Amino acid sequence: MSILIKNADLVTADTTWSADLLLENGKIARIAKDIAASEAKETIDASNCYVMPGGIDPHTHMQLPFMGTVASDDFFTGTRAALAGGTTMLIDFVIPNPQQRMLDALRQWQDWAKKACMDYSFHMAVTWWDDKMAAEMEEVVKGGINSFKHFMAYKGAIMVDDEIMVNSFQRARDLGAICTIHAENGELVFRKQQSLLEAGITGPEGHPMSRPPEVEGEAANRAIVLANALGVPVYIVHTSCKPALEAISRGRRSGKTVIGEALIGHLLVSEDVYYNKDWTTAAAHVMSPPFRPPEHQEALWNALKNGDIQVIGTDHCVFKHEQKAMGKGDFTKIPNGTNGLQDRMHLLWHYGVNRGRITMNEFVALTSTNAAKIFNLYPRKGCLQVGADADVVIWDPQATRTISAKEHLQNLDFNVFEGRTVTGINRITIAQGKVVYKDGKPDVTEGAGRFIQRPAFAPYFDALRQEVKINQPQAVRR
Ligand code: URP
Ligand code: ZN
Ligand code: ZN
Repeated sequence: MSILIKNADLVTADTTWSADLLLENGKIARIAKDIAASEAKETIDASNCYVMPGGIDPHTHMQLPFMGTVASDDFFTGTRAALAGGTTMLIDFVIPNPQQRMLDALRQWQDWAKKACMDYSFHMAVTWWDDKMAAEMEEVVKGGINSFKHFMAYKGAIMVDDEIMVNSFQRARDLGAICTIHAENGELVFRKQQSLLEAGITGPEGHPMSRPPEVEGEAANRAIVLANALGVPVYIVHTSCKPALEAISRGRRSGKTVIGEALIGHLLVSEDVYYNKDWTTAAAHVMSPPFRPPEHQEALWNALKNGDIQVIGTDHCVFKHEQKAMGKGDFTKIPNGTNGLQDRMHLLWHYGVNRGRITMNEFVALTSTNAAKIFNLYPRKGCLQVGADADVVIWDPQATRTISAKEHLQNLDFNVFEGRTVTGINRITIAQGKVVYKDGKPDVTEGAGRFIQRPAFAPYFDALRQEVKINQPQAVRR
């Protein structure tokens, strides 16, 4: 199986240049000027297009059992939609129920993921603690998972307190793993939800009212302070607002290892969606943290430029209208989550590159390369190098798409980006060296996705580990 991509402008996180790309047996085999067509079975003319590494979405929830229901995109429909949008790998979250053993939950997710039609990995959530957990975390890391997730919200369900975070952060540090954080103060959210309901506010507008920016900022700051004190790399997921950005910025400006992730939705969708008079439309936007007023979006765009946000994900976790209706009469029962897996790269190119907010190279860094480095997939993923996986997109900067639930492949009867016309989309997606999407049509194989091992001690965090070693407490000699 071989494909030659000719006449391309190659775009990576570092540079842009013209060359042909030969893909063989699922890998990038050669990059050179004027490779002969006879060297491959199939030739694709990429004139007037860019060729880039396939996207990596580091934040998804396929068929997640959550808030009394199950997210409607599974590992097949979700990964097919991702490929249509130029994303060739995702990292999903294994989330054990309280009292469920991590390894049991992992087996469950591995079983669900057998349907995936592109490569995937997992983060492991720490949702409770007992004396077996430290050993279990080691097994998880040995199994190729180097990131642990901590939900500081969702009280009474998967929320963790400081004691659990400290236990887990120390263990993750010693195992060479990274800690990812859902940063919202769950106790404050809970109290605000109760007083809003008591005051008769039961509709979707109660959702943003119960989760104001300072609730996110406090939690982000606390997680960053704890992680820095313990010497473990920390990654704040779905950063949505100025107070959380300030916490990230403070950490980074003081030389700490803090990574910020933002979602394509938080860059583009404004809080007023929750005040829509139509309950179904307002509820369809319920996710946590909520969409914010425009000044927060502007701050997020600036953070892409100044480096405080290094990764754009989706937090794709979708529920159909009938599922969202579980929260009629009580906004706290609306399942939290929205879409983006098929739309992320198109939207970031359109609103980011076309509007001059980021360069093409920054686009690649934000959608692929940085996630590959942080989660230790690089240089297998996230780059155009000989020996890397042949996961690439052929991107037509002139082609357009109007986003709509009617045309998308996401298993969802709504799209939070409905009606937006974007310019600059993938004409072709190649995953594992095969064309899996071309000119609007997917051509995928259920089960073709592979679990990709992500070893501990990612080189990306070598400097932090060195600093921790140097600063270890020394006994005073008397
Ligand atoms: O609302 C959201 N974000 N749902 C998915 C779970 C999470 O918090 O990431
Ligand atoms: Zn979250
Ligand atoms: Zn999430």
